[in-house]
Amino acid sequence: MAEPPFGLLAELTHRCPLRCGYCSNPLELVRREAELSTAEWRDVFDQARELGVLQFHLSGGEPLARGDLPELAAHASGLGAYVNLVTSGLGLTAARLADLAVDHVQLSVQDADPANADRIAGVKGFARKLEAARAVKDAGLPLTVNVVLHRQNLDHVAGIVALAEQMGADRLELANTQYYGWALRNQAALLPTESQLRQADAVVREAKSRSRMEIVYVIADYHEAHPKPCMHGWGARQLTVAPNGDVLPCPAATVIEGLGIENVRAASLRDIWWDSVSFNAFRGFDWMGEPCRGCPRREVDFGGCRCQAFQLTGNAANTDPVCSLSPHRGVVEEVLRRPAVDALVAREVAR
Ligand code: SF4
Ligand code: FES
Repeated sequence: MAEPPFGLLAELTHRCPLRCGYCSNPLELVRREAELSTAEWRDVFDQARELGVLQFHLSGGEPLARGDLPELAAHASGLGAYVNLVTSGLGLTAARLADLAVDHVQLSVQDADPANADRIAGVKGFARKLEAARAVKDAGLPLTVNVVLHRQNLDHVAGIVALAEQMGADRLELANTQYYGWALRNQAALLPTESQLRQADAVVREAKSRSRMEIVYVIADYHEAHPKPCMHGWGARQLTVAPNGDVLPCPAATVIEGLGIENVRAASLRDIWWDSVSFNAFRGFDWMGEPCRGCPRREVDFGGCRCQAFQLTGNAANTDPVCSLSPHRGVVEEVLRRPAVDALVAREVAR
């Protein structure tokens, strides 16, 4: 039985000053003209709160690219929700922060090595991120530093932990790249080796045992025997609203063809959450076939990730092929055998 959503990921815009090679496909981003207006976002927030949402994540792209961000943050805050700003930090000065009614800031960092961080981001932004972190702490706000890990920064995990501590982070999220959309296109440049992962695992374990920060570590599941419990189950806890008003059961759900995605311009959030085909497609356990249907782990990992199942097997209802019990596990083994490359496809795309 589904419950009301706990969180709303509001992708206010896809515009972003960064060009990270693991982000969603830059060829398919929503254009500025198609973005929801201020009034439409306010209405989305009203509806989300009525539906039971307690946490609003104001995200992007870079949400600071929206000139109406102060009004939107104030509106969300006025509804009594906990407001989290998810930002690259570029443009987040003390003055701009003072205008934002937010409870928490989540700042992305690409690496502890400034030159490599700027190379991964495709823009010179490292120093501005340090300034942004300082502004957050000076404002007395809790700070989460979020780092997407991959082959090109995984060997620097110890330095990344030290950098987050130096920034005054309360929480550090170390998330191995998940391979959807653009990250899948760049997989050969991003997929770490098993030995890189094992070394990073040890560094993170040691850091967790001694650091005052809360450290959250999202594993790289290609190398594991079982998949991650993606989204804690489909349509279970969170909904995503894309810049154009598309309502998604997970941020990557547009990769699943034929899902029947609905839009807030045509239907209410309430109807979409409870009754839409897209949100009910993989809710609960009835949609599962074998081996998940009879597996004792189905309540632990929910059969893994629907987007990954679709992208690697062509059918979102298949067991996530990362699972060692999946008849499609060979697809993942084949990816792990492929030679690595250094170039990121994103660099070749004009934006
Ligand atoms: Fe999880 Fe399905 Fe694999 Fe069981 S068979 S471990 S439920 S993915
Ligand atoms: Fe979409 Fe896992 S990313 S279900």
